[in-house]
Amino acid sequence: MFKKILTSLRFLGFSQSLLTLLSTLKRDFTAWRYRTPKNKEPKQKPGPLRSTSITSHGRAFEFTHASLEIHFLKPDLVCLTWGPGKKSPAYAVTDQGWPEVPVESQQTAQGGYALSSEELRIIISSYGEITFLDLEGKTIRTELPPRKIGPSWEHDAVLTEEQRLHGLGEKASPLNLRDANPEGKKATFEIRNQDIGGHYESGDDPLYLNVPLYISRMGDKGYLVFYENPFRGTFTFDHPTQETPKARASFQGGMLRYYFTFGSLPHLIQRYTELTGRPPLPPAWSLGYHQSRWGYKTTDDIQDVLKGFEEHDLPLSAIHLDIDYMRGYRIFTVDQERYPDLSDLADQLHEQEIHLVTIIDPGVKKDSEYFLYQEGIKGNYFCTLPNGKPVTAQVWPGWCAFPDFSHQETRAWWGSQYKKLLQKGVDGFWHDMNEPAAFTAWGEPTLPLPTQYRLEGLGGDHLQVNNLYGLLMNKAGCEGLTEHQPEKRPWLLSRSGWAGNQRYAWNWTGDVNTSWETLRQTLTIMLNLGLSGIPYTGSDIGGFGGHPSPELFTRWFQLAAFTPFFRGHSATGTPRREPWVYGEPYTSIIRKFLKLRYQLLPYLYTLAWKSHQTGHPLMRPLFWSYGDDPTMADVTDQYLLGEDLLVVPIMEENQTAKQVSLPPGEWISYWDDTAHQGPQKIKLDISLERIPLFVRAGCVLPTAADGTLHCHLYLPTDTSTEPVKSVLYQDAGDGYGPRRLDQFYLERSRRGIHLTWEEMGKYPFPHQTLSLHLHTPDHFSGAKIDGVEVEMEENKLQTEPFRDAMFMFQK
Ligand code: GLC
Repeated sequence: MFKKILTSLRFLGFSQSLLTLLSTLKRDFTAWRYRTPKNKEPKQKPGPLRSTSITSHGRAFEFTHASLEIHFLKPDLVCLTWGPGKKSPAYAVTDQGWPEVPVESQQTAQGGYALSSEELRIIISSYGEITFLDLEGKTIRTELPPRKIGPSWEHDAVLTEEQRLHGLGEKASPLNLRDANPEGKKATFEIRNQDIGGHYESGDDPLYLNVPLYISRMGDKGYLVFYENPFRGTFTFDHPTQETPKARASFQGGMLRYYFTFGSLPHLIQRYTELTGRPPLPPAWSLGYHQSRWGYKTTDDIQDVLKGFEEHDLPLSAIHLDIDYMRGYRIFTVDQERYPDLSDLADQLHEQEIHLVTIIDPGVKKDSEYFLYQEGIKGNYFCTLPNGKPVTAQVWPGWCAFPDFSHQETRAWWGSQYKKLLQKGVDGFWHDMNEPAAFTAWGEPTLPLPTQYRLEGLGGDHLQVNNLYGLLMNKAGCEGLTEHQPEKRPWLLSRSGWAGNQRYAWNWTGDVNTSWETLRQTLTIMLNLGLSGIPYTGSDIGGFGGHPSPELFTRWFQLAAFTPFFRGHSATGTPRREPWVYGEPYTSIIRKFLKLRYQLLPYLYTLAWKSHQTGHPLMRPLFWSYGDDPTMADVTDQYLLGEDLLVVPIMEENQTAKQVSLPPGEWISYWDDTAHQGPQKIKLDISLERIPLFVRAGCVLPTAADGTLHCHLYLPTDTSTEPVKSVLYQDAGDGYGPRRLDQFYLERSRRGIHLTWEEMGKYPFPHQTLSLHLHTPDHFSGAKIDGVEVEMEENKLQTEPFRDAMFMFQK
C-alpha cells in the first residue's frame, strides 16, 4: 500500500492522486452495488458415468453431474471440454478446419472407455479420471476427476518428482515454476492480467500478460496443456518434496476446456501455435534498435536524440513517442505545440531509415468535446455498468471510458482510427495500459468486476474479459493496420495479451525495477514467455524507473542486444539514459554490441521467418535443444538464440569469472574462434567489454555489414561426413513481395571443406558483395569457386554468388 502511494505521487502528482482515491471509492461502490451473492455450493465431482456416444472426432460422455467431450484435432492433439459452464468466444484458437482423425473407442473392463488415435491413448474412468498414455502404454499424465464449485472449475493432475514446469506467460519466477517457492511448498500463480503499478520485482504476481498453459517436462520430452478459459484463474504447483504432488488449475467461471499435446519442446510449441496461430513475419526494421523514453516531450527533444545517435555513431531503427505526444493524453490526437508537424518529423526519420512508433492507450478521455469520446458514446462502443452507463475510471488523461473490444463493431471503429496516424507517417504502434489499467489507491488496478462486455453477443463481465482485453485491443489494432495499409506488415507492441497474442503483437516486459536481481529475472521471464508461445519480447534496458549504474546499464544492454525486441526505455523523472550518456568506456562497449546486433540481422531475420513457420521462440533455454542431457536441465542463466548462438549474459555485479555450461557438440567462441567440446562446464575470465558468446560448430552464420553478406563457416573439427545445412531467409524487409531462401550445405572431407549453395525463390540477391570466412584452425592451400581457383586471405575470400565452393587443406 505504502509503495503504491509513493509510486502514485511520483508519476501522477498530488491532484491526480486524489482523483485516483475518488476513482477507487467509486469502483468499490460499484462492486458493492452490483455484488453477487457468495457462492456457497459444495464441491461437486462428475459422479458416475451414465451414458456415452460416438462423435465425429472422438466421444461424448454424460456423467451424473457433468458432461465431457473429447475431440481429437490431430492424433497427438486433443481437446477436452467439461461442462456445464459459460461459453466464451474462441479468441485464442484459430479455426483450422481440422481433418477427421481416426479414433478407436472401446469400453474398459472397469466400465470406463479407452480412446486411441495413431499416437495417443486416453482412458476415461467411469468416475471421470483421465489418463493419457503413449502407444507403448507409458503414462504421460493422469488427471483426477475435476470439481465444480458453483460457476468455477478446479482441475488436478498428478505430478511426479522429476517433472519441471514452464509456461503461464509472463511470470517473475524461476524458469521451473515449481521452484517458485523454495521452501518446499506450493507455488501459486494467478492468471489475471494487471498493471503492477510502476515497478515490479522477482516474485511479484500476476503481471501484465498471462497465458493459461503449462508445459510439463522430463528430459527433452513432455506435454503441454492449454486451458482455453479466459476467466481469471489460479495455478498451483506442488513442490517435488510434497507428498503426492499435484498441479492444480482453477478458473472462476466458464467451461473447463483444455487442449493436450505431447512430445519434444519444439513439437509442443509447434502444435500449440498451430492451434493458436503463428507469429507473422515482422517488418525487418523492428529487429533493429528502438529508442524510447517517457519524457521526450517535444520535436526538439527527438531532434536532440537523433543528433546524439549520429554524433556517437550509433545505429537506430525506431523512435517511440510515449504519452506526451498527445493533446492532453487524448488517444489518436497529436499535441500541436509539442509536435507541430508530426508528418515532417516522420519524413525526416524515414530519410534516415528510422521508423516512428507512437503509444496508444485504451482509456478514452471523458470529454464531450473530444471526437473519440463522442464517437464512442454515439456508437455504444464503451464497456458499461450493469445499468448501461459507460464505466469510467482514472488513467493518464483523468476520467476515461474504455472501448469494449469484445464487440466486432468496436474493434472496427477503433481499428479505423489508426489511419490518421498512418497518414502522418507513423510506422508502428505501442499498446500500453491494456490489462486494462485503471489507477486505484488500493485493490485491483483495473475496471470494476461488474463491468459489462458484449462478448460477441454472449455477454460477460470483467471476471471473464479482463484477461482478453489486451489481446482484443491488439486484434483491433492489427486488423485496422492490415486494412489501411495492406501492403505493409503491421507492427504492434503490447504490454498485455493472452493466448494467441503472438498473431497480433510483440511484447515487452513492462515496468521492471532497476536492479541486478531484476536483470536476472528478466532473462527468465523472456525464456518463459517463449515457452508460452510468445516469441517476441524484450525489456526496458536498465529497468523502467530507476537509475542503473553504468555497469548495470551496460550489462543489460549486452543482454538486450540478443533479445528479439531491443529497446531503450525509461520513466519520466529518471536521469537520461540514451546509449551515450554514461561516457567512456561504456559508450564504446555499447556501440560494439549495437553494431553486432545489426551485423546479426540476417541471422535474426531468418529466425523470425522460422518462427513464422513453427511458432518457435527466438530465445530458448538450453534444454530446448539439449534436454536429453541431464546437465542442461536446469541451466537458466544462459540461452540459445536460434540453434546456432549460445549467449551467456553477465548478470552479476563486478563479475570477473563465469562458469559456462556448454551443451553437447562443439562450440566456437565468437570473439576469438577458440573451440570447446561440450558438454562441459568451462570457467572464463570476464571483462566489461564482452559477454561470452559461442557459435555452434556445423553452421553457416550469416552476418551483414556495409553492403556485404558475410557467410561465416563454423566447422566441427571432427570428420563428420554428413553435410550440415543452414538457411538464410531474405526479402524486401516489409510487405508481401518475393522472397528467397538460400540453403548452405557444409561438409568436411579428407581433402578439404566443401560448401554447396542452393538458391530458391524470386527475390534477387540483395547484397553488393559476398565474403566467405572459415572459422577453423585448419590451414588451406587454396580454394575453388565453381571449379575456378580463387585467392584466399587468412581463411577469407570475396566472391560472387556461386553453387559450389571447395577449400583444400594444406598437405
Ligand atoms: C506505463 C508503461 C511505460 C510508459 C508509461 C507512460 O507505465 O509501462 O512503459 O512509459 O506507462 O506511458
